[in-house]
Amino acid sequence: MTDTAQLRSESLSAVSNAGTAAALEEQRVALLGRKGRITEALKNLGQLAPEERKTFGAAINALKEEVAALIDTRQRDLQRAERDIKIASERVDVTLPARHTLPGRIHPVTQVIEEITAIFAAMGFTVAEGPDIEDDEHNFTALNIPATHPARQMHDTFYLQGNGDGKTLLRTHTSPVQIRTMQNGKPPFRFIAPGATYRCDSDQTHTPMFHQVEGFVVEPGIHMGHLKGCIAEFLQAFFELEKVPLRFRPSYFPFTEPSAEVDVGCKRSKEELVIGAGNDWLEIMGCGMIHPNVLRNCGLDPNTHQGFAFGMGVERLAMLKYGLPDLRTFFESDVRWLSHYGFDPLLQPSLAGGLSG
Ligand code: DAH
Repeated sequence: MTDTAQLRSESLSAVSNAGTAAALEEQRVALLGRKGRITEALKNLGQLAPEERKTFGAAINALKEEVAALIDTRQRDLQRAERDIKIASERVDVTLPARHTLPGRIHPVTQVIEEITAIFAAMGFTVAEGPDIEDDEHNFTALNIPATHPARQMHDTFYLQGNGDGKTLLRTHTSPVQIRTMQNGKPPFRFIAPGATYRCDSDQTHTPMFHQVEGFVVEPGIHMGHLKGCIAEFLQAFFELEKVPLRFRPSYFPFTEPSAEVDVGCKRSKEELVIGAGNDWLEIMGCGMIHPNVLRNCGLDPNTHQGFAFGMGVERLAMLKYGLPDLRTFFESDVRWLSHYGFDPLLQPSLAGGLSG
């Protein structure tokens, strides 16, 4: 008869001494596997006298359970130890201050685009893009601005040589991304389109290249109330204020009907401009319900689809939020200006972590 006490002490110490998951598995097979010592002992029960079979059977079955339980515990211990080693080897001391050895700064235009993107991302907007070099069709015609339309003059367009047909140009606004995204996709749409835009214009408040962010939503049941709510929410988040006084003033854009310009309440004095206080108003963006012709030009039926759009100037928002007085300095590439007005590259704008550091 096998000595259960000896089998027990050998089994338990073999399991306890297994130092790795592989060694433990080896012991499991050697003890409980098909040809394992405990399995064999159980198989041999039949050859014993009935009396012996009873006591020996009970002991060996108890041992089987004890060993299985010990293997389980040992396996968990080994896994924990392996995980602890892994965690220790990957340890990062987050209490160490980031070292400001990076000489670069984030340009206010990039910063503001990232802030705007973070805010709209939280509202479920994706980011769409289009080319800077556009054609007449996308920049004007499909946006309900036909060849004879006076709005074309307002845009001071830079025309390029292109095919020589006078139809290639630098986009004068980000609105052509509305057309491209609608033509290449299927409704519903909810996106913003940030990017560079170009107009032949230069003074203290205009540069030939500047940036806009377009916003665009086509979804069932969208109405002007959604537009107002969306813009109010955005402006509060952007200016980091509890409440921003807003005014929607009727206006005209060829690609929206009705159209409005959005003013924010502000206080102006010689030295400064404070957003969200006082009794002055400052125009901040254009918006409206998408014109039926624009939807039609992109193959959507205006009887079943509607939505809103808006467009804003990034430099203008940056100047207002960060008190930058002269637009032209934005593009002079003066490192002193950038180190003063630029942003820390390690601080990614986010709604949870803070937009502007
Ligand atoms: N594209 C216009 C511009 O450059 C801005 C704009 C106004 C865009 C109203 C829109 C909008 O989408 O609805 O002046």
